[in-house]
Parts: sequence; C-alpha cells; structure tokens
Amino acid sequence: MGNITFTMIKPNAVKSGYTGEIIQRMVAGGFKVRAMKMTELSVKDAQRFYAVHSERSFFNELVEFMSSGPIVAIMLEKENAVENFRKFIGATDPAKADEGTIRKLFGENVQSNAVHGSDSDENAVIESNFFFSEREKF
Ligand code: CMP
Repeated sequence: MGNITFTMIKPNAVKSGYTGEIIQRMVAGGFKVRAMKMTELSVKDAQRFYAVHSERSFFNELVEFMSSGPIVAIMLEKENAVENFRKFIGATDPAKADEGTIRKLFGENVQSNAVHGSDSDENAVIESNFFFSEREKF
C-alpha cells in the first residue's frame, strides 16, 4: 500500500469558495500536502485525465464540467493514502456519502461532487505526474 494520493477540488467547489475549508479539513484529517496548484483543464486535458471513463455515458458531461473553471490539484501523503482518502471524502454520490465527509459537506450531485480522489496507488502516481513535475513535489 502506498502513501500518496491525488485529489482535485472540482470547479463547483472552487467557484463556491470552499477551497480553503476543504484543504484545512484534509490537513486536519492527517493528509500532508506534498504538491498543490490552482489551474484550469482544457477540454483535451480533461479527456486525457478521465480517459478510463471515455466509454461511459457521462463522459462528455464530465469533461465539459471539469473544464468549466479553475480546479485545485493536490498531491497528498498519508499512510495507506488512497484508501484512507476515499473514506475521508465519502461515496461518489454526495447523497450516499457518510455524514462529515467532504462530498457530503460540499458536493452537489454525482458529477459536481466537490473533489476527486485516486482509486489506486498506480493511478495516484499517474495523476500526480499529470499535474506536477518532480521539482513541484515536496
Ligand atoms: P471522480 O472521483 O472525479 O472520478 C470520476 C468521476 O465521474 C466521478 O468523480 C464523478 O464526478 C463522475 N461520475 C461517476 N459516475 C457518474 C454518473 N453516474 N453520472 C455522472 N458523473 C459520474
């Protein structure tokens, strides 16, 4: 099990002004920020980032949403980071997420669910490398 995961604060949460509170909660939850930047995904970037979902019915809508405004990309460190972070943010659908989780608190619906979280150690590395060069990781 790895100690790195990758997260993005999604456009809806950034627009709503939740960035600071979400980062504060991550840090309070024991996740250490190893890399972070605010940026915007082009349509092509979003298609590439979510390529594993390209055959899904929601793909085009997801790409449009994820490229609709600034996001905050963050690489986090904690023991068993991927699994711990997925528990911490809650279920993909905020309506099904446990009380107190990030998606329950800040998510609007299954697409605008406030944050992304890597689903495996391998993807955590791939996704971190998508946004950060070696000299941007600390
Ligand atoms: P995320 O963790 O960013 O990974 C893939 C995203 O696809 C997921 O969060 C959701 O925002 C989105 N997603 C997953 N299932 C659906 C769905 N049924 N309808 C719309 N979007 C979805």
